Amino acid sequence: MAKLSSLEDLLVHELQDIYHAEGQILKALPKMVKAASHPELKTAFEEHRVQTEGQVKRLEQAFKLLGVPLKGKKCEGMAGLLEEGKKTMEEDAEPNVLDAALIAAAQKVEHYEIAAYGCVCTYAEMLGYDQLHDLLGQTLDEEEETDQRLSALAESVVNLDAENVGGQEEEEEPSR
Ligand SMILES: [Fe+2]
Ligand SMILES: [Fe+2]
Repeated sequence: MAKLSSLEDLLVHELQDIYHAEGQILKALPKMVKAASHPELKTAFEEHRVQTEGQVKRLEQAFKLLGVPLKGKKCEGMAGLLEEGKKTMEEDAEPNVLDAALIAAAQKVEHYEIAAYGCVCTYAEMLGYDQLHDLLGQTLDEEEETDQRLSALAESVVNLDAENVGGQEEEEEPSR
């Protein structure tokens, strides 16, 4: 029989992928905290690191709920996204521009996670695994909140600071 012969098999397969992805993110976030200059961005990354530890625990619980062994499966997608982020951090970049780039890299990661958790949430719901659906839904909410927080930080501060690099600090135009 095929290895993926049911939606339940696919659910487990995808959870193994996310489990590995979260492990990689947990290793990358401290480097992003270090690389960031804006204190608000450092805090956002650090808080998401702590949140990610909780997300890993939820996944461990998810495997338990399904009665399958805890196992990760190399997530190539996340490895690629984080490799790109690493290369960005190695660039000779102006700190404000680097911060904008770090937000872009982090949001790509969040969007991957939102897609991944969105799928497993749907599968869990379809299979009638209410507890699992609830558990994964909590993480999905956190990923979406993180994405929104990064957008807000980019739009209100970081991208503007990046835009002003090298130019004369312009007086803010009165809005009326
Ligand atoms: Fe996560
Ligand atoms: Fe995340």
